[in-house]
Amino acid sequence: MLPSRIVQPPSPFAHGSRSRLTPRDLPRFPSESLFDKIARVVCRAECLPRKELYEAWEVARRARRRFRGGRVIDLACGHGLVAHLMLLLDDTSPCALAVDTRVAGSAPSIAAGLVGAWPRIAGRVTIEERAIAEVALTPGDLVVSVHACGALTDEVLDAALAVRARVAVLPCCQEARPSALAGWLDPTLAIDVARAHRLLAADYDVFTQTIAREITPKNRLLLGAPRTS
Ligand SMILES: C[S@@+](CC[C@H](N)C(=O)[O-])C[C@H]1O[C@@H](n2cnc3c(N)ncnc32)[C@H](O)[C@@H]1O
Repeated sequence: MLPSRIVQPPSPFAHGSRSRLTPRDLPRFPSESLFDKIARVVCRAECLPRKELYEAWEVARRARRRFRGGRVIDLACGHGLVAHLMLLLDDTSPCALAVDTRVAGSAPSIAAGLVGAWPRIAGRVTIEERAIAEVALTPGDLVVSVHACGALTDEVLDAALAVRARVAVLPCCQEARPSALAGWLDPTLAIDVARAHRLLAADYDVFTQTIAREITPKNRLLLGAPRTS
């Protein structure tokens, strides 16, 4: 009788895992797609939780489907990956500024890896340790912010609205507060609905989307651009 071969089932690869991507994960990203190339850089950098790669990618590509060009401003940037992805997805943006009061330790490795793989973005992404309130925005900017906790998302919206810049936020940690909508809506959803209405009231075109819940349950993406006509 022939010896039976034991076939291991493919191990699950949850996109929302907080496990750090490492070179062991390289075979998961074999293709020549832009995403797989970026993921291979991140795996080699060995510093980023898996979910943060997928969150950053899903926000950046959705934002870029709507908004081209402009200086990219990544507020509460953490690792700064979103700022880099925004340039890789649209080379018509001249530069990006990524700020955080406490830039993540992973940021230099991520930046070095991506610049090594795409030398055309060398010198175009600046990462600075400072607060959102200290950033001078201009109307042509494209403001992005992933998981600016609680009221920090409102600060991002305040900053964008003050100069009528385009904005894309993926809020998190909504702090429940009294809402007239609480009888119908989950309190965190009520807060994000109010944020969308705030943009509409400011004469913005508003787009509401979600990224896959498997990546993060804090998955509501709010995009807005000043209405032009
Ligand atoms: C949940 S983390 C998100 C980081 C990153 N965007 C991501 O998706 O992984 C929130 C970040 O906000 C930063 N932060 C808190 N207050 C801030 C402020 N006033 N200005 C800028 N960044 C701030 C924190 O240091 C932290 O890195």
